Amino acid sequence: MTVFRFLPIFAFREKEVFVFNIEAFDIKLNTEFIGRNFVYAEELSSTNSFLVDKNSNYNNNGTVVLAEKQSAGRGRMDRTWYSQKDQNLTFSILLKGNKKLNSRINLINFAATLAVAMSIENLYQQRTHLKWPNDVLLSGKKVSGILIESTSSGSRIERIVVGIGINVNQSIFQGKFNIEPTSIRNEINDMVDRERFLAEVLNNFEWLLNKVTENGEFILKEWRERCNMLGEKITVSDGTKTQYGIFEDIDDSGFLLLKTKEKVERIHFGDVSIV
Ligand code: BTN
Repeated sequence: MTVFRFLPIFAFREKEVFVFNIEAFDIKLNTEFIGRNFVYAEELSSTNSFLVDKNSNYNNNGTVVLAEKQSAGRGRMDRTWYSQKDQNLTFSILLKGNKKLNSRINLINFAATLAVAMSIENLYQQRTHLKWPNDVLLSGKKVSGILIESTSSGSRIERIVVGIGINVNQSIFQGKFNIEPTSIRNEINDMVDRERFLAEVLNNFEWLLNKVTENGEFILKEWRERCNMLGEKITVSDGTKTQYGIFEDIDDSGFLLLKTKEKVERIHFGDVSIV
């Protein structure tokens, strides 16, 4: 693994115990290309913004950028992603040069949520739920969110950046949230080994990415199994309008099918709530 550190190696850290141990992470990483280029930063504005920028000098497929703190972490629909320094995992993965992935952004999104969900299930035996399009829930509360962004030149997609925020060891959440947050630690009542957990997520993500191109049906099936909103009466709000109907299904591309009085609408983005 090639590691780039954005801090002096002997920098004084107040809570030394929380410093991310790259060697421990590397031992558990079992991938071919995801995370093989690893950028560790103490602070960035946003790991997504960093990798979306093609002048960032990091252009290898699978590069992972992890920041202990984001000064301007971003969420979906122009929200801010808050995460306490050194406690959680906020990172982005660069996907580049795989043409088959370019038309399957929603499935990549599902693969990322599944990678987080399966890692929690495997390591901590917790039941997870997925909320369309990109949230992972534990006990009905949000433990992780995904923000996918891409850049293109003309009609050609050049870079896909998968940004993942996971509440790992943070125990107190202050502020106003769209969905009540929780962390893995709060649910299992124990500290989580961040190095082991990140390696597990990346191992699962690489495996699931392969399914995105070879067997999309598998991704849809695994996603449906964890979504407890299918068949429920919901509202979907895109920021300007709110629609009401039944969450009928997701289609092969990952869009939400909302059965309204008149017809079945194909929803591309929005916030879903059960009514
Ligand atoms: C959401 O639930 O709205 C998506 C949140 C995505 C947050 C992650 S943290 C790492 C990456 N960098 C960002 O600025 N955002 C994503």
